[in-house]
Amino acid sequence: MRLSDFLKKQGTEKNLAELILFLGRQSLVVKKGFLTMPGKGPEGERTRNVFGEEQMPLDKYADGVFIDALRQARLARYIATEEQEQIIEIPGAKNDFGIVMDPLDGSSLIDVNLCIGTIIGICPGNVLDKGSRFLAALYILYGPLTTLTYTTGKGVHEFMVDESGEFVLRHQDLRIPDGKIYAPGALRKDWIPAHARWIEDLEKSGYKLRFSGSFVADVHQILHKGGVFTYPGIKGKDAGKLRLLYEANPMGRIIAEAGGAVSNGKEDLLNIQPASISQVTPVYIGGKKEIALIEKFMREG
Ligand code: F6P
Ligand code: MN
Repeated sequence: MRLSDFLKKQGTEKNLAELILFLGRQSLVVKKGFLTMPGKGPEGERTRNVFGEEQMPLDKYADGVFIDALRQARLARYIATEEQEQIIEIPGAKNDFGIVMDPLDGSSLIDVNLCIGTIIGICPGNVLDKGSRFLAALYILYGPLTTLTYTTGKGVHEFMVDESGEFVLRHQDLRIPDGKIYAPGALRKDWIPAHARWIEDLEKSGYKLRFSGSFVADVHQILHKGGVFTYPGIKGKDAGKLRLLYEANPMGRIIAEAGGAVSNGKEDLLNIQPASISQVTPVYIGGKKEIALIEKFMREG
C-alpha cells in the first residue's frame, strides 16, 4: 500500500498527511545529491554549524532542499534545523505547523558510504515544544533501501521507495522487541560512574556492541532488533552531545510509540520543555527495561 493511501486509511488530518508526503518527496531530492556531492568540502571553503561540527556539502545541500521547498509550498509556519542559527518563519504559511529537523544525520559517514538519514519532528506550532506534543515524527534512512518510518500517534509504520519512486508499506505497527544490542557513544574514559556501571551490567547480561556513528541508523537497528542506544553526558560535558529538538525528540517519540522509551538518564525526554533550539542532552533510547535500569543507577548515584 502507498504511503498516501495508508495515511488516508489511518484518518490522518489532511494538512498533516500532505506535509508528511511532501517531506518524503524532498528526501528523494536529497538522495540525488549523493551522486555528485563529495564527503568533505574543498579546504578553505569548510564551514561549521552552531554546534561546532564541520558541515559537509551534503549537510548544506539537504538543509537547503528542505527549507527552499517548504518556503515555496508554505506547508509549515516555522522551521528549525541543525544547520541554522535561528528559527525560520515562513510568510503566508497555509497552516501553523513547526518543523524541527536534522536534515542529514550521520553525515561524517558520507565519504565512506555508510547509512545516513533525515530526522524530523512536526509540532502543532512553536518549535520550542515538548516531544510528547509532536503531531508526528519521522525519519528517512538512506540505506540499501530508502525507507521512511513515521508515527502520528497511531503506531509506527515503515515504508520503502519502490522502483517507481513511491513509498510503499514495508512494516505496519512496529514494536521494539526484546534484544541484546547496545550502541554506546563517547569515550569510555569519560563515562560517569553510574553510566559505567550500567554498561558493565549490560555487558554481563550478554549485550553485543554495535555502533555505526549514525544515530538514525543505530536507533533504526534498535527499533527492529531491540536493545539500547546511548550518547551519555560525560565528564566535562555533562549536557551530552545530541540535540534535543532535532535528534533525540523525534527519534524518541518514534521509539516510545513502538513500546520503548527515551531518557536523559533521569527522566523521560519527551516531557522536557526545551529552553533553546540548540539544547543538547544526554540520550538513552531503546527498550523500557534498559532505560529503567540506567534511571535506577543514576538515582543511586
Ligand atoms: O549527529 C551527531 C552524530 O553524528 C550522530 O549521528 C552519532 O550518533 C554521533 O554524532 C557520533 O558521534 P561520535 O563521532 O562522537 O561517535
Ligand atoms: Mn545528527
